[in-house]
Amino acid sequence: MKLGIFDSGLGGVLMARAIRRHLPRYDLVYLGDTLHMPYGGRSADALYHYTERAMDFLLGTQDCKLVIVACNSASAAALRRLQRDYLPARYPDRRILGVIVPTLEEALDRRHRRIGLLATQRIAACGIYAEELTKLDPAIALFAQAAPLLVPLIEHGGGRWIAEPLESYLAPLMAQRIDSLILGCTHYPYLKPQIAAIVGPEVDILSQDEIVPGKLADYLHRHPEIETALSCNGALRFFATDVTEHYTAHAGALFGDPALSMEQAVAA
Ligand code: DGL
Repeated sequence: MKLGIFDSGLGGVLMARAIRRHLPRYDLVYLGDTLHMPYGGRSADALYHYTERAMDFLLGTQDCKLVIVACNSASAAALRRLQRDYLPARYPDRRILGVIVPTLEEALDRRHRRIGLLATQRIAACGIYAEELTKLDPAIALFAQAAPLLVPLIEHGGGRWIAEPLESYLAPLMAQRIDSLILGCTHYPYLKPQIAAIVGPEVDILSQDEIVPGKLADYLHRHPEIETALSCNGALRFFATDVTEHYTAHAGALFGDPALSMEQAVAA
């Protein structure tokens, strides 16, 4: 059985690359919901519906034992309900994990007290990070900033126009004297050098592509019943709900493999 990685689009390819490097043995299946991206401005109901369809594909058609929902928006809108209702009813022996709680746990492990969060509109507004942080440690402060222009600029190759919006999104967080900054969106690892140059060495950048692979390795170590079910041929397949030449080339560039091939996903 395989390890699945789901994202709204192609930003999660950065996560797939990081998981691949950290855990090269496992057979991976990536699914990007390019037909419906971006998720950042959509309603919770729509996101639940899309994410459930994606799980049908990864757990059903692709026979994944475990799926990482790399998309923050899908994690916020769908993860709890999938874990509580969908999995027990449909796939009781499979698991779906998100990225929000592991990121906060890492921030706490690193003893941060004033955490900045850069995220899509949906994530910044829905309060999921603050809610989960309160459960872990209510004394830690979290400052959220929505950055709605970043995903469209990254998706459309607008890198040279990013500096100005990025500086104005980060300014209110810097004014709060944050000690760390969560990159709360699949796409933002792509901007790490620019973000680091703006926030300086005093602010610890928490990038999910650097955090989740190690947390996943720990999880597999603690759950041999899941780990031993995973096949280990180092295989890797990329699927999208809408395949175009542009998406394929973009995914290849993000993954670092110009020959990457993208297959059309057909739901279960
Ligand atoms: N994958 C989404 C997230 O991490 C960002 C892109 C989108 O809005 O679809 O929230």
